[in-house]
Amino acid sequence: MTVLLLGGSPSSPSTTWRLQQLVGERLAALGHRTGALQVRELPALALLRADVKDPAIADAVARVRDADAIVIGTPVYKASFSGVLKAFLDLLPQDGLADKLVLPLATGGGQSHMLALDYALRPVLASLAPRHVLPSIFATSEQLPWDPELGLRPVPTIAARIAAGVAQLHDELQHALQRKAWAAQVLAVAA
Ligand SMILES: Cc1cc2nc3c(=O)[nH]c(=O)nc-3n(C[C@H](O)[C@H](O)[C@H](O)COP(=O)(O)O)c2cc1C
Repeated sequence: MTVLLLGGSPSSPSTTWRLQQLVGERLAALGHRTGALQVRELPALALLRADVKDPAIADAVARVRDADAIVIGTPVYKASFSGVLKAFLDLLPQDGLADKLVLPLATGGGQSHMLALDYALRPVLASLAPRHVLPSIFATSEQLPWDPELGLRPVPTIAARIAAGVAQLHDELQHALQRKAWAAQVLAVAA
């Protein structure tokens, strides 16, 4: 199954993107095809003007459309998700997440805004008609230390949350694959 890592941090390097990449590596090891899309790399003017005819924007929207699951990541900015991510989500069609699984991830400077994913991002995702939005994963930057040689070294509590989130997404992707196979069989019988 195809999983798109949709990065919503304007920064580079980005703690959130590192977390997303770790999740992506785990999913790839389980046999999923993963792709990467960072909103910060899209043409800024086209993004701000919601120019869906711009080739890079059109391609990004198509990549969301073609994915079975989206691992969406954002830093917490001003007690909410990032503005660049909202600018991109606003470009998607009304049912832009139809039939997709979504795993939301966020990183923040502290614990105070750890619910931002649930009160701010989750309603926006729900409005795009996904099949299922999985429980969110939130970590502070302190809980995600970076080692230049070993890469991201999440503290044990966060490592456990990541493992559980990856396992749940993998499990649901397997079910989605089964559903696709059944649907193909039904179509073949009906033809
Ligand atoms: C403009 C700005 C606003 C921020 N607002 C918050 C905030 O309201 N709450 C919070 O917990 N952290 C806040 N932070 C800290 C970031 O969420 C945190 O450092 C995050 O891990 C950055 O992720 P990134 O490296 O992927 O961009 C803010 C950081 C910036 C630059």
